[in-house]
Amino acid sequence: MIRSVAPRALTQRITEDAVVFPVYRESKRLSTAAARVDRSLGGAAAAALAAGTFRAARGETRVVSVKRGRRLVHAVLVGLGARARTNAEETADALGSAGRELCSLRVANAAVVVDEATAKDAAVSLDLFVHAVVKGMLLATHDPSLGAGTPPTPRRLTILSDISAKNLAAPIRRARLIADLTARVRDWTNTPGNAMGPKELGDVLAGLCREFGAGCRVWNRKEIERARMGAVLAVGSGSGGEPRFVVAQWNLEKKNLPLICLVGKGVTFDSGGISIKPWEKMHEMKGDMAGAAVVIATLAAAAAEKLPVRVVALVPCVENMPDGRSFRPGDVLTTYSGKTIEVLNTDAEGRLILADAVAYARTQYRPDAIIDVATLTGGVVIALGTRVAGLIGTSEAHIEALRTAADRAGEPVWPLPYDEHYAAMVKGEISDYKNYAGRNASPITGGALVGAFAGDIPWVHIDIAGTAWNDGGGPAYQSRGGTGYGVDLLLRYLEIVAEL
Ligand code: BES
Ligand code: MN
Ligand code: ZN
Repeated sequence: MIRSVAPRALTQRITEDAVVFPVYRESKRLSTAAARVDRSLGGAAAAALAAGTFRAARGETRVVSVKRGRRLVHAVLVGLGARARTNAEETADALGSAGRELCSLRVANAAVVVDEATAKDAAVSLDLFVHAVVKGMLLATHDPSLGAGTPPTPRRLTILSDISAKNLAAPIRRARLIADLTARVRDWTNTPGNAMGPKELGDVLAGLCREFGAGCRVWNRKEIERARMGAVLAVGSGSGGEPRFVVAQWNLEKKNLPLICLVGKGVTFDSGGISIKPWEKMHEMKGDMAGAAVVIATLAAAAAEKLPVRVVALVPCVENMPDGRSFRPGDVLTTYSGKTIEVLNTDAEGRLILADAVAYARTQYRPDAIIDVATLTGGVVIALGTRVAGLIGTSEAHIEALRTAADRAGEPVWPLPYDEHYAAMVKGEISDYKNYAGRNASPITGGALVGAFAGDIPWVHIDIAGTAWNDGGGPAYQSRGGTGYGVDLLLRYLEIVAEL
């Protein structure tokens, strides 16, 4: 991934190997600022635009390479699409295409023109536009090969702009933070189950907290037993790797700030357990800990930004495996809260471990809201696909905050209906609850079991089963495999909670 990003005024000489020119579909010519940059490339970009064959559809690219002295410099036109539709998501997608183009050109250093006129024409604020441009370019150059050897990506990115360095600083800094943390979530999501079990997941999450100056404790199995988290223990019982429970915190001592508990599903591999999955897509279940990675990355981001909000992140880490010691269908589990759950399907494991973690959040912290993030159901992928995450919850205010945050982040969410009728569907026959309520409305009933443990605390559940993984159809800034979806979304959400 691109390592350094710095703004530079338009008057300076171009020393980079490539310059990206974002262009709206409506634009007949380059902006004044872009034309000025282009003059030092001999007007290559303007000529390519004037030829009239470049339509500037979103993500469309056109490369014109020119000799400047002994150097070859590439002008890269990239289409932003229609002005009215250049929101955060589409802007990052468009600049993602440009980032990919830079990778295939194998340039070491690149620049992108982000002038005030173009930024002000976007359908979002100048800040959000600059943020989306930088985020899209950085994340598009993330290498998901886990060291297996793909082409090297550019190292440096210069933001050529007539916007003051002072006004560029915040969105650039924030975009770098989001890209860095999103890339780490991707890498962990892509890490195979044999390389990362519950212990290793706990260790890397604690390592991230340490790096960002946030507090973190990782409980071992003994401590989870002492806390009587019966659901976490049951789901983890078939694995050779013992479960962990991560308790991370930021600003907790600042009692007058709002307190949000983020809870993430940390299943390092989900075979389905005794209710074993078919083999075809089972390998993708190494990514069933994406929610865990996202909530800890968000806490790290909040710490880096010194947000005036208290954040606690709680992550149960387990591996769901079939074994002689596994939990089984028919088992009745006593959860941390004391309430019991009958297991009808061991593959509905996420809601079980989240039930313990959410109950812990409620009783230990009594936060202003609990937000749980989980690759919970196949049903949400059927309902919403891989671009939009599903929401359910008991707080209109927090659902609204998340929808606003999603618009700003370019990480879309959509609320599903939720009321007492759905909640009633997970009531048990021989126990308080059951972990499976049939295929009907499965993303809602799956979430409902988690929500049952939030009690009277405002609660929202985000099902990222579709958005956490990119099979190839995602926006251009996403690599294949883990997407890191949710870090930007949740940081924007916390900013709203902090009333920034
Ligand atoms: N981790 C899966 C959900 C999932 C599916 C994540 C596809 C990512 C992509 C979850 O634990 C699961 O197995 N859900 C099942 C439960 C059902 C069998 C009771 C589902 O929703 O299909
Ligand atoms: Mn499962
Ligand atoms: Zn799962």
